Amino acid sequence: MENSDDAGVFKLNSETALIQTVDFFTPVVDSPYDFGRIAAANSLSDVYAMGGKPLTAMNIVCFPSSDFPASVLRETLEGGLEKIDEAGVVLVGGHSVDDLEFKYGLSVTGTVHPEKVIPNCNANAGDMLILTKPLGLGIIATAIKGKIADKNIQKKFIETASALNKTASEVMIASGANACTDITGFGLCGHLLEMAKGSKKEIHIYSDKLFFLPKAEEYAEMGLIPAGAYANREFCKNRVYVSSYIKKAVADICFDPQTSGGLIISINKKNAGDCLLKLIDKGVEAAIIGEVAGEDKRGKIKIK
Ligand code: CO
Ligand code: CO
Ligand code: CO
Repeated sequence: MENSDDAGVFKLNSETALIQTVDFFTPVVDSPYDFGRIAAANSLSDVYAMGGKPLTAMNIVCFPSSDFPASVLRETLEGGLEKIDEAGVVLVGGHSVDDLEFKYGLSVTGTVHPEKVIPNCNANAGDMLILTKPLGLGIIATAIKGKIADKNIQKKFIETASALNKTASEVMIASGANACTDITGFGLCGHLLEMAKGSKKEIHIYSDKLFFLPKAEEYAEMGLIPAGAYANREFCKNRVYVSSYIKKAVADICFDPQTSGGLIISINKKNAGDCLLKLIDKGVEAAIIGEVAGEDKRGKIKIK
């Protein structure tokens, strides 16, 4: 737990370790079915980020039964089940409580070979960094809540946020990744900083290689930034250096809390190109967005 890794790992024997994780949040879109899909994909992601295989899941529900009809809960759980099925995971139970605010997510259990865990703290100097989903999910979610985002923008958001990190994880395992984490509430910089600190490395982000959801940069320029992005920036300020020529909107997106974001994979330079080609070939939106530049005892990031 000291490196704030994505999930807990418990060694059962020399062949098998358990991976356990729990995640849930409040609705991010109007459609209960799509909310269910996004929340489930997000919960499963932490197992994928550890290089593991999710096996079972349990629903976690907080539901204001006096405010919403039961169909809202049913559709949410059906959306979640679609993703649980797609992951090849078995739903084995769950728990619900009456609450003032609706929340849904999963507790997921998976397995991994104890020697094949891909932690967030094992990035090597000279590694390339591959990102597997476009950034800007928090900004677009804010625009959707503010009724600014049109149908196409919403569709792309739902498609991206509900996409499983399964294929990305399988490709990085096969390609021999050194370190990985998924980009969620602390944004690209927050999660990368955990990697930099845990690995004792200096990480460089190439701002011109970052890729965003459509309209994310435009909305960021308009100031449509979720409060979490400011908190993330404040948290990172002593260890993340933003070059003076970086556009404010681009820097803001680097701190944007991601709703079910992609993986960030640290992988040896000689395997990175092949890993990227395989990801793209399998339909994953991915790019090399930075590198592990060298040693740094306390860990730091430069956005260049
Ligand atoms: Co995570
Ligand atoms: Co998590
Ligand atoms: Co019980």
